[in-house]
Amino acid sequence: MGSQEKIAPAKGISAIVPPDAAVWTRVEEKLRLCTEEFGYCELRLPILEHTELFARSIGEATDIVHKEMFSFETRGNASLSLRPEGTAGAVRSVLEHSLADRRPGRFWYCGPMFRYEKPQKGRARQFHQFGVESLGMASVESEYELLSLCAALWRALGIEDRLELQIASLGSDACRRRYRAELVAFLQQFSDTMSEEQRQRVWQNPLRLLDSKDPKLRKLLRDAPLLKDSMKHESVSRFAALCQLLDDAGVRYTVNPRLVRGLDYYTHTVFEWVAAGDLGGQHTLCAGGRYDGLSQLLGGPELPAAGFALGLERLMLVMQAAETLPKVAPPRFFIASIGPAATRYALGLAEELRDRAPGAGVQVHCGESSLSSQMRQANAAGIPYVLMLGPEELADGVIRLKSMVDGQERQFDRKNTEALLDWVGDRLEETD
Ligand code: HAM
Repeated sequence: MGSQEKIAPAKGISAIVPPDAAVWTRVEEKLRLCTEEFGYCELRLPILEHTELFARSIGEATDIVHKEMFSFETRGNASLSLRPEGTAGAVRSVLEHSLADRRPGRFWYCGPMFRYEKPQKGRARQFHQFGVESLGMASVESEYELLSLCAALWRALGIEDRLELQIASLGSDACRRRYRAELVAFLQQFSDTMSEEQRQRVWQNPLRLLDSKDPKLRKLLRDAPLLKDSMKHESVSRFAALCQLLDDAGVRYTVNPRLVRGLDYYTHTVFEWVAAGDLGGQHTLCAGGRYDGLSQLLGGPELPAAGFALGLERLMLVMQAAETLPKVAPPRFFIASIGPAATRYALGLAEELRDRAPGAGVQVHCGESSLSSQMRQANAAGIPYVLMLGPEELADGVIRLKSMVDGQERQFDRKNTEALLDWVGDRLEETD
């Protein structure tokens, strides 16, 4: 067969490969352990859902649904989409399996999400989220719990000093509708100076304009009405109660009345954890809020809920800048062998070592190459001890061991592997 052209990955979609993949697994493990300490259980959610699910929950007019979904028709003419986020699927699955009957339900999930966005640092088309959803609780205490879980995650990952919490209240649905009308009236005065897209937005999703990057529009918006001014007393005092809980617990935050979320399902509290500087053009590592109406939008019962999701790609960037990414140790032993007889012996010895010293890690060279090339391999992989089995060692009935750290060598009798196994066990105790 002639040589074929290589196939590039799809734009904005990449594999996570060693050594990063092992680091990711360890970070995910920390997130999981910390979240389960708060009583949250894992949900493994479908990656494909009916497009309708996202259109109804995230909102038809949002950028995510309007421009960023990977959607396709199945052979049976159903429209499916790769999930752009996890909340909609989490609520749908919880309703499907009646998990909300046992209130409250506390869930977490982790996995790939897909958005057709322009890739850049901290922004990919396939990215990964760790998400947490708390269903069945309407109290501000449940929002406080989510925020204190976030704070516990940042401490566990050593990035608590790099993030700032911004919070805001969108008020109830009624507050939001009132505000929307006020904002549309305000923006209409300037429709002559707006682009076609901005004019359309005024009608479709005016709140989203508050987040605009256009300097001209930003200047106009300085005088725009603020949502907090159209909020009813109950919503204002609800938000004050959350702020009080955060103050009492010493959680630092900034109230940002212009916080805009790109998903329509939020009511009352919304929040973002932003990282200054570490994320390229993106600033938000983690975002969430309350979404009391979503269950009913999906045909379910009244079910107050709140949650958040953090982006793992962005988390790695923040941890890298903070130098807190976990170190992944290579195996501690490498068995170099020359010739088929020695290699067969090496395979058996490796099994004995793995049984005797679980966690040590034993890698065997399974191919044909010179001893020096095998030593180079072990060195490049950072493996500290090499056991050598060549024709000479076989003939003399010994196993030679070399420390790659200080160059010291020692020798063990092949008939008495106990001495070697003991020595390996001692090394483990020294470094544990
Ligand atoms: P979101 O703000 O759309 O919220 O996304 C949450 C996080 O996912 C972002 O802060 C970011 O770290 C990450 N993220 C989003 N898009 C990308 C991308 N293209 N590339 C890399 N990372 C990205 C949600 O998805 C809501 N479901 C959060 C939520 C859960 N609200 C309530 N419960």
